[in-house]
Amino acid sequence: MMEKITVPFVYGDGVGPEIVSSMRLVLDAAVARAYGGSRKIEWLEVLAGGKAFDLLGTCLPEETVEAFRKYGLGIKGPLMTPVGGGIRSLNVALRQGLDLYVCQRPVKWYKGVVSPVKHPENVDMVVFRENTEDIYAGIEWETGSAEAAKLWKFLRDEMSVKTVRFPESSSFGVKPISKEGSERLVRAACRYALDHGRKHVTLVHKGNIMKYTEGGFKKWGYELVQREFQEEISSGKLVVNDLITDAFLQNAILKPEAYEVIATMNLNGDYISDMLAAQVGGVGIAPGANINYDTGCAVFEATHGTAPDIAGQNVANPCSNILSGVMMLDYIGWKEAGRLVENALESCFASSCATPDLASLMPDGRPFGTVEFTRLILERI
Ligand code: NAI
Repeated sequence: MMEKITVPFVYGDGVGPEIVSSMRLVLDAAVARAYGGSRKIEWLEVLAGGKAFDLLGTCLPEETVEAFRKYGLGIKGPLMTPVGGGIRSLNVALRQGLDLYVCQRPVKWYKGVVSPVKHPENVDMVVFRENTEDIYAGIEWETGSAEAAKLWKFLRDEMSVKTVRFPESSSFGVKPISKEGSERLVRAACRYALDHGRKHVTLVHKGNIMKYTEGGFKKWGYELVQREFQEEISSGKLVVNDLITDAFLQNAILKPEAYEVIATMNLNGDYISDMLAAQVGGVGIAPGANINYDTGCAVFEATHGTAPDIAGQNVANPCSNILSGVMMLDYIGWKEAGRLVENALESCFASSCATPDLASLMPDGRPFGTVEFTRLILERI
């Protein structure tokens, strides 16, 4: 009997339709080749972003969120937030709506891709970035507003705060970091490490300065590890340590081979993911997923934006979205199809074939349009 899996997908805005079309063709070909017709992806288009706004007057329809929830899976192109759409960021709204608390970003180098570091082959990490807390909670007030003045008055009069340098002209933000939020993120990172033959989990934080928020993350993380992973620690299967963020950013360039799984909070994770991605070829080929490991719901996505400057020109690099598709295949256990895609991509890069963004950096780079590059991948699969 044929095994089918329904995958809701969003084309997205800007280059979204180009790269998502490419990703679907590549995944279909890999699944067909790997399983000889016994497995199939059933694609279900759902709307978000500009297309949803034009057709339904809302950029994130409830049906879209519901489809991701129902099927426990989804993949999307990048989304822009239409001005006046009433939502700060669609991606943040989606992550919060489905409580996708892990932003997972694997960072590894594919042979042939030009990198600014001497040994990109030593970079092989998976970042677990907390996705629902930190200053991304959007709790902030602008300088001059009644709320900012009210908050300052409270801080000054009732909390004895004296260290705001220019209170009258300050904007204020709030950084919530919770025990539960830290624990579930660190738990997911440790379980992932054990399930994927990786030994080292590094908690990255700025707890030396932000003692109760980032310091809390570190403390709760270690306590969780002591409670739930004692056996794995004692047997040497798992090693958990921690590092201050600035030291990590330096070490990740000087000796990337020392790190395997990184567990960190939202803002640190944002910077770290892009810095690491740059070491292996940039965000054009960096995949990502947003996952709730308790419900199992996972939404995979290209990590870059809508690239409006090159949209519709057949030059967008589809690799970020394709590799997000590979993450999805791995997540559902269709690993053979995922390896076929990775091997095909590596074979393209090894023969200097790539979209213009990457080909222009290769010594003998041969640039191909999105459609033509997709065809090359399909031939190799
Ligand atoms: P961007 O990632 O869209 O573009 C930055 C630069 O990278 C541009 O020069 C672009 O041409 C290039 N680039 C991006 N993706 C590429 C690809 N696949 N192939 C080749 N070149 C590529 O970032 P920007 O300009 O800051 O944001 C544009 C829009 O995207 C904004 O509306 C922003 O809100 C949205 N955005 C959406 C994200 C998402 O949906 N996950 C993430 C980041 C931004």
